[in-house]
Amino acid sequence: MCGIFGYVGGERDARDAVLEGLQQLDYRGYDSWGIATYDGTLHTDKKVGAVPRTMARLPGHTGIGHTRWATHGSVTDVNAHPHAASDGSFVLAHNGIVENADELKRTLSRAGYAFNTQTDTEAIVRLVELNAKKHPLPEAVRLACRELTGRNTIIVLAKNGTVIAVKNGSPLVLGRGAERGVHYISSDVLSFSAHVREVAVLENEQMIVLEGTRVSGKTLQGRTFTPRFEKNAIVGAKVSKDGFPHFMLKEIHESGAVVRAVMKSPQKQLGDVAQVIRRARHVYCIGSGTAGAAAAQIAYYLRVYGRINATELIGAEASDRLPFFTKRDVIIAPSQSGETADVLEVLEYAQARGATIVTYVNMPGSSMSRLADHSFMAQAGPEICVMSTKIFVSQLAWGYLLAKTVGGKRKAALSALRSLARALDSFLTDASTRRRIRDAAMLFSKSNHLFLIGKGQNKQIIKEGMVKIIEGAYVHAHGIPAGDLKHYAITLMEKGTPVIAVVSKDSLQSDVLNAIHEVKARGARVFGIAPSPSPHFDSYLPTPECGETSAIFNVVPLQLLAYEMAVMRGNNVDKPRNIAKSVTVK
Ligand code: BG6
Repeated sequence: MCGIFGYVGGERDARDAVLEGLQQLDYRGYDSWGIATYDGTLHTDKKVGAVPRTMARLPGHTGIGHTRWATHGSVTDVNAHPHAASDGSFVLAHNGIVENADELKRTLSRAGYAFNTQTDTEAIVRLVELNAKKHPLPEAVRLACRELTGRNTIIVLAKNGTVIAVKNGSPLVLGRGAERGVHYISSDVLSFSAHVREVAVLENEQMIVLEGTRVSGKTLQGRTFTPRFEKNAIVGAKVSKDGFPHFMLKEIHESGAVVRAVMKSPQKQLGDVAQVIRRARHVYCIGSGTAGAAAAQIAYYLRVYGRINATELIGAEASDRLPFFTKRDVIIAPSQSGETADVLEVLEYAQARGATIVTYVNMPGSSMSRLADHSFMAQAGPEICVMSTKIFVSQLAWGYLLAKTVGGKRKAALSALRSLARALDSFLTDASTRRRIRDAAMLFSKSNHLFLIGKGQNKQIIKEGMVKIIEGAYVHAHGIPAGDLKHYAITLMEKGTPVIAVVSKDSLQSDVLNAIHEVKARGARVFGIAPSPSPHFDSYLPTPECGETSAIFNVVPLQLLAYEMAVMRGNNVDKPRNIAKSVTVK
């Protein structure tokens, strides 16, 4: 998952326009960056590291750029994009994985091409060069893209200033500014939303060619098309930390607001989807990473409150299910970006077999929201921190509302969510919260291993707490379903082992407290997140009683704990190492 950006047809300094775009895109990967501009000749600058605040001047009013999350080839200046043609006739940047790169490289080597990098991208560059011996560059690019397998989106800057871009898998959007003829190209709308009025979302196998102020479209099959522009849903969106030290803390503090946004989910649409779910032969909930935990929690809510035997799937682990999808099935996919390749592949496959696709996405115009039969938008505002926090809360709140609607209890759900939003607001503004969380973080940030215990409605919450602590603090955390403890994990319990116990006032509370007794008996140190104290907690964070929405509340203290641990360990909170916000490659 990388970020691609382009600026064409305007009078701005292309280096500034592209650098500004890349700075908004580096949540997609920040191993290295590169910019190329055109002022009669091509100029390129590219380096290892995150997108800089400033850089050396590059002349010209046309440019492209790339921010990389390394898939093929280590993180080096040479492997940074864009990559140049041997004869300097163009430079190319790429987001995706060329699954047949080795085979292509063997064919191209036989045709006399050498490879200077370890990237799969270079196979595309040399293939375009080979085609360009017989065809004009746009045709050479089109023919090359037809030979690639995998999900690959590319942008090319030619030595005559033409910009060519092809969308085939990873996202690509075209923005039109207030001044006619000025175009922005990017991996997402947010990165240029301050400058454009209208956006055209490109579909797979579409190529656009921008020559100065002129734009033309051709599919990989050779059919011409005109990009369809719509009003930009987030025009002028400004993203700032609003005084918080990090986006992560700001976004955690928006938890109450996103729950209230869920309460505004269109009632008719919810009712229609509830009906579709009731009639389904089978309902699956699918996601990856944090969205995978959200999908599993939504499946839990559908089972408990909708009486639907829903099954959770992890995006990258669903291949054994594919043969079973039928047109009577429903697939529900929560996703912040709406571009996660693993999940998209399953949704495309299931839809081809006639299944009904329901998505819950935060990015307008994303692939999942466009593919869905029923698309819901989180309306949660941009989430910039690579670690998903407020969107996870939003996904759970929406899943709870959907499940209760299926069960005929929509009004009760709205009332529960209203109380939950109030409880979150007061918790996040309570001064003692920060102190208690920091004290716990002090304790845990010195440990290299820590455990989380929970059960039932909190089973996915401890998994998400584990994900947050690993992602943010780089500490090995392990979420243990309480019932599993005595079957294996208890062997790891010894004097001082740090354990976080997540407890709700529900029918399983005593089971969790029993598990705490067991770890305490072996010397563990327990931090309880619970509505009431216990003599077995060494330290304790009081939580309000939130009944059926208790689990949604409980994830916020865990997010805050991961945040404080990340800060104490001096990590890059909003851009943790090695991960990216949107995984648009398998
Ligand atoms: C991971 C992100 O790469 O992708 C997670 O770091 C996210 O935060 C996961 O949950 C799935 O992404 P999305 O966009 O489908 O929610």
